[in-house]
Amino acid sequence: MSNIEIQKSSGGLGADVHGVDLSKPLEAHLLSAIKAAWAEHLVLRLPGTRLSDDQLMAFSQNLGPLDMRPVGKAEQKSVPGNHYVTIISNVLENGRPIGGLGNLDAQWHTDMSYKPSPAVASILHAWELPDQGGDTYFCNMYAALEGLPSALRARIEGLQLKHDAGHNSVGGLRRGFEEAVNAKAAQGAIHPLIRTHPVTHRQCLYLGRRQDAYIVGLELGESEALLDEIWAAATYPDYCWQQTWRPHDTVMWDNRCTMHRRDGFPNDQQRIMRRTQIGGDKVN
Ligand code: SIN
Repeated sequence: MSNIEIQKSSGGLGADVHGVDLSKPLEAHLLSAIKAAWAEHLVLRLPGTRLSDDQLMAFSQNLGPLDMRPVGKAEQKSVPGNHYVTIISNVLENGRPIGGLGNLDAQWHTDMSYKPSPAVASILHAWELPDQGGDTYFCNMYAALEGLPSALRARIEGLQLKHDAGHNSVGGLRRGFEEAVNAKAAQGAIHPLIRTHPVTHRQCLYLGRRQDAYIVGLELGESEALLDEIWAAATYPDYCWQQTWRPHDTVMWDNRCTMHRRDGFPNDQQRIMRRTQIGGDKVN
């Protein structure tokens, strides 16, 4: 029987997992140890060898049913015949991007929060990395809620947030969308600002992304001011952890209780990542 080792990060969330070979079917005791560590640490980093898309999908399915990849920009290519693996990359082939996000900074966000049943988890695997930049940062949204000043927390209790579906995390317009006149008019799903995690039963802040977000029922200016106040208190460095990628790292995160963002990197270097996500869960 293989042994697993879990080592907590020095940040506000995250842990390293050693002793698991993701290219093979997982023994039941390893899977339950991974799930327990994931509920405790919210983001797990697993080192290993390069996984094929089939291996990445097989590992991901241990966490739940695969979710279809999100809609990207019109010119973006993807894996032919595969609806579940998203490529995140700045590489061009015949002048067309092979994946999304290019080499840009990606703003804090939670994957798919603009859907009625957002993806519960994302799994990101590194194929090729630049020499500098491209780090990914994670934020613990339980800590973000617990750290809010009590008056601010009381003000947002029971409020609902509309999550913009029109833009991706680098501010690009998704296929099929036009710029909204303002955040109140933007399209996207509505979820509670404070949610309860269905596994841990703990409450956390659920912000999605800042661009074109709108707190339902408020005047636009009031919503903008309140969102600015919440965001300013939500991403303190103490709540966060920085992932500096090593080749073939796999990082899995819980979208229900974390946000993430990414640093840009020089465009003359290649970064190729493969991502899967696990199907949706209603937000309560
Ligand atoms: C993402 O936002 O899902 C991409 C993160 C990354 O490229 O590191």
